Amino acid sequence: MDIELKGKRALVTGANSGVGRAIVRAYIRAGAQVAINYVAHPGAARNLVEELTREGGQGFAYRADVSDPEAVSTMFAGIDDVWGGLDILVNCAGIDGPRELAWEARISEWRRVIETNLFGAFYCAQEALRRMVPAGSGVVINLTSVHEQLPWSGYSAYTASKAGLGMLTKTLAQEAGRHGVRVLALAPGAIQSPINRSVLEDKEGLAQLLTRIPTERLGDPEDVAGMAVVLASDAARYITGTTVYVDGGMSLFPGFTHWD
Ligand code: BGC
Repeated sequence: MDIELKGKRALVTGANSGVGRAIVRAYIRAGAQVAINYVAHPGAARNLVEELTREGGQGFAYRADVSDPEAVSTMFAGIDDVWGGLDILVNCAGIDGPRELAWEARISEWRRVIETNLFGAFYCAQEALRRMVPAGSGVVINLTSVHEQLPWSGYSAYTASKAGLGMLTKTLAQEAGRHGVRVLALAPGAIQSPINRSVLEDKEGLAQLLTRIPTERLGDPEDVAGMAVVLASDAARYITGTTVYVDGGMSLFPGFTHWD
């Protein structure tokens, strides 16, 4: 079975940087057409469209804040105008929010994280399923995190949003399975991407982070993108409602690793 996405129409949210951008590039290489959703840095979105068009790929950029349900509906209507349907949705837009202990956390920041990571993914999944279910096929991939299962002090909104998204994935998979639609979670560990900028610039923080990864390296965005291709392809046609971890073993409680 070939791992390819020839002729598939894919929407990737949060797609003009980091893991989202790597997924766009990988999807184009696999033969898909890609709608690149972004909310900030329009120049980066434009550059990405130019890059993939130069290489013979097809795609367009669409600005929409996924935490705004009206903006999401308008984006999907816009995609209908261009493609008349959608085969793959990748919910990649996400933020980690400020590091604040729960009893000091600002409600406005807490809400912003949940509204982007959980509500945003739900709004997009809902619109996608409204198209995929009647069509009898489609794949939704939700980017969660190792923090779908690992607690992370200072990031209660982030961990709650990712655990919630993991369970949302299972429930949507159950609802959509009989209609030929698969719903999956893809959970990265620590990846060399903008969301990790501060730790990448902090030598000590980085050394400490590496002790939590059995393979002793951070992931590349391409490590996650490769699995996003596999999961959207027919090679994964019997996989739904589960989380695939791309984390170098980070979720294996590496504190329990003993070398001797
Ligand atoms: C976060 C990263 C973090 C990683 C491992 C990811 O979900 O976005 O900032 O390094 O989890 O803790």
